[in-house]
Amino acid sequence: MAGRGAAVSTVDDCRLLELPRMQSAAGSITPVEGGREVPFAIERVYYLYDVPGGESRGGHAHRALQQLIVAVMGSFDIVLDDGASRKTVRLDRAYQGLLIRPMVWRELENFSSGAICLVLASEVYLEQDYIRDYQAFLAAASAHDTPGHPPR
Ligand code: TYD
Repeated sequence: MAGRGAAVSTVDDCRLLELPRMQSAAGSITPVEGGREVPFAIERVYYLYDVPGGESRGGHAHRALQQLIVAVMGSFDIVLDDGASRKTVRLDRAYQGLLIRPMVWRELENFSSGAICLVLASEVYLEQDYIRDYQAFLAAASAHDTPGHPPR
């Protein structure tokens, strides 16, 4: 668990990354390598699909986990919140990924029909890494005293 003085991120540390794209008449390939296109080793991959219209996902922050989120099919919005500011990023390209740093609250919403959300994660699944209560998130975010310096 991150304690006082540990790194905390802002929504501005969460960037939209342009991923490589090899296009040919036979289709396109986008490779993502840990430590290259994403600034962490990839320990886990998962994907969200069959999301019913009007549903939202997320609604939590992670203490240490970093993620790259890609709309490999369709589109959706990600609302980021660091406790001080918010921004919404629309993902709708298979060659763009949103890097989400630790200690940033996220909500995924406005999924298009058939959307597939690919997540590349820096850690295996660990429930203790989640902060699922928004008030607890705000308290944890404000307890950190070195904002803006996420782990590399
Ligand atoms: P959660 O991360 O809360 O989903 P989302 O952010 O997409 O709304 O996970 C939902 C459930 O799935 C939760 O009870 C734990 C389980 N889960 C795993 O077992 N392993 C995983 O890698 C993930 C991402 C979730």
